[in-house]
Amino acid sequence: MKTDRTLEDIKSKIDIVDLISEYVQLRRAGQNWKGLCPFHAEKTPSFTVSQAKQMFHCFGCSTGGDIFAFIMKHEHLSFQEALALLAKKSGVTLPDARGFRKTSERDEKVRSILHEARDYFSAQLGRSLKAASYIEGRGVTAESIERFRIGYAPDGWQNLLRYLKEKGYRDQEILESGLVVSGTKGPYDMFRNRVIFPITSMSGTVVAFGGRAFDDATPKYLNSPETAVFNKSETLFGIFHAKEDIRRDNRVLLAEGYLDVIVCHQYGFRNVVAPLGTSLTAAHIRKLRTIAERIVLVFDGDTAGQAAAKRSLPLLCQNNFSASVLLLPDKEDPDSFLKKHGGAAFSQLLENAQGMIQFLFNVNKGDKLSTVREALALIAQVGDLLTADEMLTELAETSRINEMTLRDELKKVKGPKPLRTTTPQVRQAGPQARRSEEHLLLSAVLASPEKADYVLARISIDELRDKTVASLFKRIAGMKDHRELADIFTGADDDEKKMATRLSVDPGFDPAFLDQNIDDCLAKIEKRKFDERGLLIERSADAALSNAFLIEKQKLLKGTNL
Ligand code: UTP
Ligand code: MN
Repeated sequence: MKTDRTLEDIKSKIDIVDLISEYVQLRRAGQNWKGLCPFHAEKTPSFTVSQAKQMFHCFGCSTGGDIFAFIMKHEHLSFQEALALLAKKSGVTLPDARGFRKTSERDEKVRSILHEARDYFSAQLGRSLKAASYIEGRGVTAESIERFRIGYAPDGWQNLLRYLKEKGYRDQEILESGLVVSGTKGPYDMFRNRVIFPITSMSGTVVAFGGRAFDDATPKYLNSPETAVFNKSETLFGIFHAKEDIRRDNRVLLAEGYLDVIVCHQYGFRNVVAPLGTSLTAAHIRKLRTIAERIVLVFDGDTAGQAAAKRSLPLLCQNNFSASVLLLPDKEDPDSFLKKHGGAAFSQLLENAQGMIQFLFNVNKGDKLSTVREALALIAQVGDLLTADEMLTELAETSRINEMTLRDELKKVKGPKPLRTTTPQVRQAGPQARRSEEHLLLSAVLASPEKADYVLARISIDELRDKTVASLFKRIAGMKDHRELADIFTGADDDEKKMATRLSVDPGFDPAFLDQNIDDCLAKIEKRKFDERGLLIERSADAALSNAFLIEKQKLLKGTNL
């Protein structure tokens, strides 16, 4: 009982739209909000948030729930941890609940130590002439120092350690924050005599630090070790400061280093982030893909830079990112380039960034056919049909090979995939089973008979794949009054009765999202028909038909703003 009250309390203080907006770019769609689902890769938004119901639901992957479900899933937390996090955010005090809160309390401690440390480093910067003049010498402005909370770790073995202990933290807790290393002679500060860059999560909480040496000391950059709150391979420097601009531009610029991000911001390029000295990982990409569809890789134009850009292409394709590559002149990074040539020159380079296919051709230089095959192998990994088509068109233009030939080749690369004319495999029923769009559409009508006319006007029953769904829709169409759906059982055969019962009992979608569910299903059925027609036309090898189809496809691509 007590917990229920607390949950309601927290829910009343946190609006789900505000909360999810911190992670997903939402746009208003009627009464609800829509965005790209953070839980699966997609190009068209099927992730829906209802303000009225304070619930979210994705029609693509069927994830849904309230603010707690969202945080658990997004931050990979247990329910108790999500509860603790949202309680803190809302200012609600949790009833005493011993035991189970241990891990979240520990993470909370680590976070608060990291914030203390950031303030400490920040205060030290003002006290060190050396640090201040180094930063100034690197062209970093006072505004950047403020925005990125740049700091300084003084020389010495226990400065921060002593400071944190005076604040009341225990050795063990300080060790867990990664700021202190345990040595044979006792614990000592990890960061000494370095300029400090705080690293934050997408929501702005400090999770780690990067420290740059002043001179030629090695390593040049030192990063916090991984901790309970810091996973290096999914963290991007600058993401908190860049996310608004990334969302607005629907494009992210990926640089290599801390200073690159900071200096880009100073020149007005604010959609820039950088990994922490690692190459781009799938976790980085998935995170970025939740806020943008396009990515520009900014690399040094030397061979190492080109190779690095090339290596990340498969992962980008697998996550449906539309990627381009900006190669800087030899031995330059955005920081040095901007200082030498200015923002206008950088904009110019950005304008001329090469599309992925074009980049491949430029890098490979060699045999055209092997590059075409390489490109096709990449396109084959793109799950999203529209993105793949866009790339295929680019490949046809760049290679001057007929697009239909390329499509045939692509099919070979993808392996044999027979044209599906029969009912697609309906997965085993069960809580996780995802219903096909036809089933979901029918359940929507069964749940809300007043929608029958709307749906019937938009489908051709004969083209439905599932014969039972089709015959049930035929029955509905034949009824004088759709409100009499109970009649659907009269004269129905066994299959029809079974399906109607199953879908009525378990509709497979959240009734709060009835309209979106219907439109989503209709769109999927439409797209499927289009895809099938493309395949048929390719098989017919009829040039006139092919061209007409290509023109229509171009229109579709344009219409979707791709
Ligand atoms: P770079 O060596 O290209 O340095 O490392 P940089 O960013 O241009 O730095 P400045 O301009 O010399 O100050 C690129 C990134 O790789 C990581 C850092 O994140 C750095 O920003 N790195 C580099 C490390 O983690 N450790 C290192 O020793 C060097
Ligand atoms: Mn640099």
